[in-house]
Amino acid sequence: MDNDVLSPAASAAEAAPAAVDADLDWWRTAVIYQVYVRSFADGDGDGTGDLAGVRSRLPYLAALGVDALWFNPWYPSPLADGGYDIEDYRGIHPMFGTLADAEALITEARAVGIRTIIDIVPNHVSDRHPWFQAALAAGPGSPERERFWFHEGGGDAGELAPTDWVSSFQGSTWTRTENPDGTPGEWYLHLFTPEQPDLNWNHPDVRAEHEDVLRFWFDRGVAGVRIDSAALPVKDAALPMLPERPSPGEHPHVDRDEIHDIYRAWRAVADSYDEPRVLVGEVWLEDAARFARYLRPDEMHTAFNFDFMTQPWDARAMRASITRTLAEHAPVGAPATWVLSNHDITRPVTRYGREDSGFAFDRKRFGTPTDLALGTRRARAAALLTAALPGCLYVYQGDELGLPEAELPLDVIEDPMHFRSGGVDPGRDGCRVPLPWTGSGASLGFGGDDAAAPWLPQPAVFAALAVERQEGDPSSMLLLYRDALALRRNRTDLRAGELTWLDLPGDVIAFRRGASCVCLTNLGAAPVALPPHTGILLTSAPLADGMLPPDSTVWLTVEPAGEESA
Ligand code: NOJ
Repeated sequence: MDNDVLSPAASAAEAAPAAVDADLDWWRTAVIYQVYVRSFADGDGDGTGDLAGVRSRLPYLAALGVDALWFNPWYPSPLADGGYDIEDYRGIHPMFGTLADAEALITEARAVGIRTIIDIVPNHVSDRHPWFQAALAAGPGSPERERFWFHEGGGDAGELAPTDWVSSFQGSTWTRTENPDGTPGEWYLHLFTPEQPDLNWNHPDVRAEHEDVLRFWFDRGVAGVRIDSAALPVKDAALPMLPERPSPGEHPHVDRDEIHDIYRAWRAVADSYDEPRVLVGEVWLEDAARFARYLRPDEMHTAFNFDFMTQPWDARAMRASITRTLAEHAPVGAPATWVLSNHDITRPVTRYGREDSGFAFDRKRFGTPTDLALGTRRARAAALLTAALPGCLYVYQGDELGLPEAELPLDVIEDPMHFRSGGVDPGRDGCRVPLPWTGSGASLGFGGDDAAAPWLPQPAVFAALAVERQEGDPSSMLLLYRDALALRRNRTDLRAGELTWLDLPGDVIAFRRGASCVCLTNLGAAPVALPPHTGILLTSAPLADGMLPPDSTVWLTVEPAGEESA
């Protein structure tokens, strides 16, 4: 039975098509690869990734078998928050290249079958954005200030912040300005850092500007946008104090009911194109019903599923999350998404190698004991599990190489989350380290031979995980991903079949996809027997005496309409 495991050579033949799939519903089952440009590939050798680097690696991405790329913000920015502080929504950061480079990249990617999704940040701008600079210069009471949330402080001399709201990066959400004569002035709102002032979405300029920015990029062939902090832009204009236990829609700056009008307007823009563009929301909400409201047919197409990503390595918890996810998406007809990590989250091989294998921002600490061999086994199993689930799959750059989270020297950390935690939280730079392409060389192939040192240092373990080292190794993470994505692309059952749960003994997650594919993940401590099957498509670890070992996943083919369906 084992010898019918699909070989890498066979799967390479199931290669990506040469141009994008004409199916307008491509986003329902797409594999979307997240590119953190600064750390993907350095084309000009200055130590920072760039668009030239991405263009040179398009063959790698096509061979991996992804349908689209999502780029983190690539705009001009002072990088106070890794580019989520945008100075110009219609430009490209000079360290990444030019607008012409972006246009060439979008076209070239499309020619090899890959669409482009970009990041749009509606909640806030950079404090260097011309609107904010104009607002500061124009002073209190000016129309320029109405595009933001400027407000007088409380207390006798305005010395108290207007509300008690807490920043997502800790501390207050308000910073006081200084008047031109040096006296303390009004306060302004920022849900993130002081360098990211929040926009006032009640202002018509803000709405018109963002719709125009969407058209600017859609006109350049961008296939969709990822919407940053999508539940936050609308504020309660009365600026109340935080209620103790806000009921749905009552929170003054999270998930306000009025927010849906914004996305309905964006959907109309997206739908006005011959190939309708796609809206993907970053929606962190615990309430499943409130989450699903963003995915109604006239709003966003999909949103990131953080519920699954935050689960510990536990069969019951993960299965419950999958069930919840599918149930919450069904009523609105939106596909689920499956996400193991991103540029904010501890890398899966590290996370799953820890005793606390779930994810929460406030639980991140330096020096957490980690078993990387265990984490890698589980990350391989999780890759196959998520790739077999119905919906859209996200792969964060470097996860296909099994890169661990880097513990960086304190003096190179840039992430404001680290600083605003008083140095307790290691921050997010550990998952943003430049990729290793070759097993040797100054920057492990990130830049050329004479390139400057990468902007963040690569840990020693990255050399063995370089693309070049994994290419020829059938047991590598990279080849596992390639095989999985090729099978998913070419097997309709696996990609688009109905999911039917299988009730198998042990700490397992088991389901059938369509008529003839089964995915079985063993999260327990003992090997488990395989259910009746006609073939083995792929395993994340070698079978042991025909059994599936702990911390691994197998994809099987089975007789159509088998007896074991639950
Ligand atoms: C979510 C982004 O993923 C994160 O990186 C950023 O810091 C915040 N939004 C603020 O824009």
